Amino acid sequence: MMKTQLISLIMAVALSTCAMPLLADDDDNKAPGVAPVSNSLYAKECSACHFAYQPGLMPARSWQKMMANLADHFGENAELEAEEQKALTNYLVNNAAESSRYKRSVKIMRSLSKDKTPLRITEIPYMVRKHNELSPKMVMGNSEVKSLSYCEKCHTRADTGSYSERDIIVPGFGSWEEYEHSPAFLDRIKRGAKGLYYELVGDDDHDKKHRDDDHDKKHDD
Ligand code: HEC
Ligand code: HEC
Repeated sequence: MMKTQLISLIMAVALSTCAMPLLADDDDNKAPGVAPVSNSLYAKECSACHFAYQPGLMPARSWQKMMANLADHFGENAELEAEEQKALTNYLVNNAAESSRYKRSVKIMRSLSKDKTPLRITEIPYMVRKHNELSPKMVMGNSEVKSLSYCEKCHTRADTGSYSERDIIVPGFGSWEEYEHSPAFLDRIKRGAKGLYYELVGDDDHDKKHRDDDHDKKHDD
């Protein structure tokens, strides 16, 4: 008994280490972005105020929750006829991230814990991580963008389901690939890192305190 258990444990470990590179290969073979929108009613109804987000950008539970309360949709009324609402909910649920083999959908699902039902694509951990190099000036402070919700302002091929780095142009800042290699970007990273360093080490305060101490001593003398 013990021996068979040991053997199956060894087998399991061997299998899992073998399976890893196989899975990684499989990942690279997946279509790179997310599946494009394939429902004309959806394309029409859900693009009145923002671009029609692909169903593969959120899990089914998120779409269900959102579609159940369109009357209060981020402060707007996006209500639909009962029949349309039902048809679009079905479309979204059937094509949600967990049912897709596209690379971004897989990554979205992997980053999300099972007990979370985000109502925003932009709150999904994978999305937060991917956008953490953007500055407020490029998004909220950018009158041509306003919020991260307007994907197509920067992802010039978002309507095709492609979010490739190659196709990113931040309005007013230009091509992202070029920007990432510019002195301005490197300088921002350096300054960001320095700020973080002082935050962690508290060196700034330390020096100041010492100077204040010296100052007080002189006074005492
Ligand atoms: C009347 C306007 C309007 C309509 C119609 C509308 N929306 Fe929205 N939607 C909004 C607003 C406003 C936001 C929030 C944008 C922001 O925060 O800048 C939003 C946000 C969203 C988000 C979250 C985006 C993010 O930040 O990650 C999703 C997903 C979404 N809508 C899906 C839909 C779907 C699906 C439909 C069609 C059933 C739809 N919307 C129709 C106005 C609308
Ligand atoms: C202000 C511009 C801007 C907006 C708006 C924006 N993005 Fe991005 N996005 C970026 C940048 C910059 C990156 C980082 C590219 C890099 O360096 O890897 C990125 C990365 C991504 C990636 C990963 C791409 C890759 O190759 O790794 C995905 C997927 C993505 N964005 C989807 C979205 C979606 C969906 C929305 C809307 C809900 C959105 N983005 C809104 C600028 C933007």
